Amino acid sequence: MPSPAPHDRLPLAFGGDYNPEQWPREVWEEDVRLMREAGVTAVSLGVFSWARLEPRPGAYDWEWLDTVIGLLHGAGIAVNLGTPTVVPPAWFYRAHPDALPVTREGVRLAFGSRGAICHSNPEYRAAATTITRALAERYGSHPAVVLWHVHNEYGAPVLACYCDVCAAAFRGWLRERYDTLDALNHAWGTAFWGQQYGDWEEITPPRATPSVCNPTQQLDYHRFADAQARANFVAERDILHRLSPGVPVTTNFMVAPSQGQTVDYWAWAKEVDLVTNDHYLMTDGRRTHVNLALAADLTRSVAGGGPWLLLEHATSGVNWQPYNPAKRPGEMARNSLGHVARGSEGAMFFQWRQSQSGAEKFHTAMLANSGTDNRGWREVTDLGRRVAGLADLRGTRTRGDVAMVWSWDSWWAQSLEWRPSQDLDARERLDSFYEALYDRHLTVDFLPPTGLGDLDPERYPLLVVPQLYSAPVGVGADLERYVARGGTLLVSFFSGIVDENDTLHPGAYPGALRDVLGLTVEEFDPLLPGETVSVRGADGSSYTADLWSEVVLPGAGCETVAVFADGRTAGGAALTRHAVGSGTAWYLATRLTGADLATVVDLALADAGITPVDLPRDVELVVREGESGTFRFAVNHTGSEVKVVLPDGSRAAVPAGGVEVFRDPR
Ligand code: GAL
Repeated sequence: MPSPAPHDRLPLAFGGDYNPEQWPREVWEEDVRLMREAGVTAVSLGVFSWARLEPRPGAYDWEWLDTVIGLLHGAGIAVNLGTPTVVPPAWFYRAHPDALPVTREGVRLAFGSRGAICHSNPEYRAAATTITRALAERYGSHPAVVLWHVHNEYGAPVLACYCDVCAAAFRGWLRERYDTLDALNHAWGTAFWGQQYGDWEEITPPRATPSVCNPTQQLDYHRFADAQARANFVAERDILHRLSPGVPVTTNFMVAPSQGQTVDYWAWAKEVDLVTNDHYLMTDGRRTHVNLALAADLTRSVAGGGPWLLLEHATSGVNWQPYNPAKRPGEMARNSLGHVARGSEGAMFFQWRQSQSGAEKFHTAMLANSGTDNRGWREVTDLGRRVAGLADLRGTRTRGDVAMVWSWDSWWAQSLEWRPSQDLDARERLDSFYEALYDRHLTVDFLPPTGLGDLDPERYPLLVVPQLYSAPVGVGADLERYVARGGTLLVSFFSGIVDENDTLHPGAYPGALRDVLGLTVEEFDPLLPGETVSVRGADGSSYTADLWSEVVLPGAGCETVAVFADGRTAGGAALTRHAVGSGTAWYLATRLTGADLATVVDLALADAGITPVDLPRDVELVVREGESGTFRFAVNHTGSEVKVVLPDGSRAAVPAGGVEVFRDPR
C-alpha cells in the first residue's frame, strides 16, 4: 500500500453530506451563504452523483461539479469528495445486468435503490476504477479537496452476492487460503454429512440449502465477501493516492449498528488514511447515548486510538426506522460533542439540505425544507459556533480506562445456526458489559483478540471478554501472560469454544481458556425462554440470571465466588476467580444484566484497583489530552443540573442536558 496521506489539511469538521445535484443552480449560492452562516467548514460531496457526472457511457459532465467546488472553495469550505461507486447509473446496469447482486435464494436484486453491487463483477470493477480515475484526474490537486470519500458504507445494504462469478472468485480465494483440498476439507469438517470435495470446481457459495449449510463454508464466505469489497476499496484508494498525492482517503464505516454484522473493521481500518464513522440513534427502547458512546469508543479503537471523524449523524429524526422520534432540544449538540469527546475531529451530518423527493425526504437535515426560522437551524448555528471554539483540540487523544475484546469474526461465527441456544447473542453481551462500565463512568478501549499477550496491565488494569465464542489458537496463552503480569481478566460464558475454523478446541470447554480460567465446563445447560435461576454469592449476595447455565468444575486454585442456587445446575459454580501470577481471571458462567451484572463488574474493578469516579448516572466525564492541553468533556444526559469535580478540587456546573468542556492548557 502506498504510504498513507496525512490529514492535517482537514479542519475541525462541521458540515454534512451535500447533494447539490438534487437542486437547481440558484439554490447553490444560497446553500453556500447559509453554510457560512452555520459555521460549516467541510462537506461530503458527490457521494451519489455518478449518473449526473457520467450521464451517458464515457460522456462526462464536470461543469456543475466545477461550479459547486468553486463556490465552496470561495467560501473557505473544504471538500470531502466522493467517488460515486455505490450507485452506478441505470445505463450501466442495462448494459451489465450481471453486476446486480444475487441472494442466497438465487434472486437477482434490481436497480432502483442503491448499493446493488456484486463486488466480484469485472465490469463493475472496471467502471468503478474508471470513474474514480476521471475524478482524481480532474480534482486530485484542487485546493478545496482535502479528503476522498470512497463509495458509501461498504457492506450496506448488501455485502455478499451468490452469483456464478462470485462462486469462481470464492474458489480462487479458498485456494489461496487453504492451498490444498485436503486442508479445506479438514478446516470445513466436510467428513460430517459426507460433504468432502474432490475437485475445487465442486465448491459453491453457501446458497440456500435444505438444512443448515456447513458453518465454516458460511463463515469463509462472509470473510470472502468482506475481502472482495475491501479489494474494491483498495483499488480506488490506490488510484487516488497516485493521482491525488497527499490527499487522504477514507470510506465511511458503520462500526456499531445494533443489528447486522457488517464487515471486519479491524481489517478495514488498516486500509484507510483516516477512519470515519456514521452513527444513528436507534429507537429500540434502550439508552441511545450508551450506544453512541460505544460506537465512538469502538471507532477510536479501530483507528488505533488516533484521530477519527464522525462523518454522518442526524440533526434530529431519521426516516428508516419503524418510529423516528425527533431529538429533544439540546440533544443534537450533546450527541455531536459526545463523539468529539471520544476522539472525533469534528461532527458531520447526513445531510446539509433536506431532500424534497426520494426515499429520504423525511430524514432531517442541517437545513430543513422549511428554511431557517426554526429550532433546528438555531441549534445548528449554535453548534457550529461551539465546534469552532474547540479548534485547538485537534490532534488530542481520548484516553481509555479499561479494555474490552471485540471481534467481528467471532460474532459472525457465533451467529450461525444450531448453537446450544438460539438466544445466544454476542452483541447483547458486548452491549451489556459496555453499559456496566459506562455506568461506572469508565472509557473503554476495544481490542481485537490478537496480540493480547503484550497488553500492559498498568495501562489496562481490567480486560473484559464478554463473549469470544471463536478464539484463535494462542489467545488463551496471551491472556495468561496478561493476567500473570498483574492484569484482571473478566470472561463471560460461551467464550473460547472454537478456533477460527469453527472447530471445537480440543478437550473440555472452554478449550482455549481452560488454563487461564482454571476450570473446565462439563456441560452446557441453556435456560428456556422466561426461565431464570438464582445465583448466590459466598458473601450472601444474590442475583437473578437467565439464558444460560452450565456445569463448571473449578480446578485447583480456582475459587468459587458464587453458585447457582437453584435450577438444574444448583450447587455448581456460577462465578469464579482464579489467581494467576500477580493477577486474577474471573469467569461468569451465566447471563446477568443491569445491577446484577454491575455488581460482578465491580468485583473485577476492585481487583484491578480501579475506583470509579463519583458521578450521577448518565453523566459522562471523558478526557482528551495532547500538546494543546487537556479537555475534560462533561456530558449531562439527565434532566437536572449536575456538578462535576475538577482536578483542582473545584466543582463546576453542567446544565441539564448540556455539555461543558473544561480546559487545562499546557
Ligand atoms: C447512512 C447513509 C446516508 C443516509 C443516512 C440516512 O447510512 O450513508 O446516505 O442514507 O444513512 O440516515
